[in-house]
Amino acid sequence: MDRVPQLSHSFRPFLIGDVQVNNPFILAPMDGISDSPFRLITRELGSAVSYTEFINTMDVVSHGVSYEKRCFFSEAERPVVFQLFDDDPARMIKASLKLYQRWKPDIIDVNMGCSVRHVVNRGAGAELLRHPNKIIEIVDGLVKVHSIPITIKIRLGWDELSKNYLEVGRIAQDYGASAITLHARTKEQNFMDPIDLESIASLKQSLQIPVIGNGNIQSIKDADQMFEYTECDAVMIGRAAIWNPWIFSGFDENEVPYSLFLETVKKHLETMKQFHGPEKGCIVFRKFAKKYLQKFSIPAERIVEIITTQDPVQFTNTFFHLIENKNLYVRSITKHDDE
Ligand SMILES: Cc1cc2nc3c(=O)[nH]c(=O)nc-3n(C[C@H](O)[C@H](O)[C@H](O)COP(=O)(O)O)c2cc1C
Repeated sequence: MDRVPQLSHSFRPFLIGDVQVNNPFILAPMDGISDSPFRLITRELGSAVSYTEFINTMDVVSHGVSYEKRCFFSEAERPVVFQLFDDDPARMIKASLKLYQRWKPDIIDVNMGCSVRHVVNRGAGAELLRHPNKIIEIVDGLVKVHSIPITIKIRLGWDELSKNYLEVGRIAQDYGASAITLHARTKEQNFMDPIDLESIASLKQSLQIPVIGNGNIQSIKDADQMFEYTECDAVMIGRAAIWNPWIFSGFDENEVPYSLFLETVKKHLETMKQFHGPEKGCIVFRKFAKKYLQKFSIPAERIVEIITTQDPVQFTNTFFHLIENKNLYVRSITKHDDE
């Protein structure tokens, strides 16, 4: 890592169980985004910990849909957190043992904040917040069978009238969880409305275990503000990392040096192709390519043309040819249209 974020808040390394967290920023788990290649580049840029995309533990015990790509990680990513989701505590515990035996992650985290319909409709993700007894079963069960730290990631509650993050935080701590991440919105708020910094501060004050704050951090200033206001132990960054993974090295979007940009992006595409295979790697890379190309002064139609190129060799050549033209590099994206 070249550079650490310059924060007015002085960051202190802390422990999640026995796992040391050395940097203030953590890449958020993001389904379809935080695969091993992306985690590796963000980890190298300074993200403190690697969270997998959520893993459906129903798949793990049923031998059905392949989940293994979600579990793969390179050693350089450690500490690695496997994030699980399910509505059935017994199945989650059984699957967690199988996963631990095979992959040896450093931490297991349980998703209690996902608001996506197919997840909550089956009783998982944020729906768990409406069932504190299930949360007890899950945390207690996982803590009893594992020697590695167990953590949870939550929202404020289901809706404005049922915010129960303080109760859930207390339960998690009492039953042995080693840290908690709070996305400071309710399930009903989804990704709308400002983040409730006050709630992160209250959770931090009410618990002894580390609290990781999450939600809408787009810049170093936003992160600083969250640290200052809430005294949380670390901040988790999701969507902003998709267009600016360099935030983990302390660069705001308009500050990323061209040489670092070029080095990271080339490595990202190459590792995606190795991980997913040349064709699929280029396809999965499209969502990042779109963001990266928006930092160049080229027409939107040209971006569409490039990212929809089917042939992986042609895609790679055209993409590299373009990003190698430093004169077109304008650094910041003026409009984050699809976030
Ligand atoms: C595309 C996408 C996928 C996500 N997948 C997950 C997931 O697998 N597990 C999880 O806990 N949260 C998931 N989230 C939520 C993020 O981890 C994070 O809590 C949320 O995006 C708020 O942070 P941000 O404002 O920095 O993006 C996802 C978010 C996005 C945008």
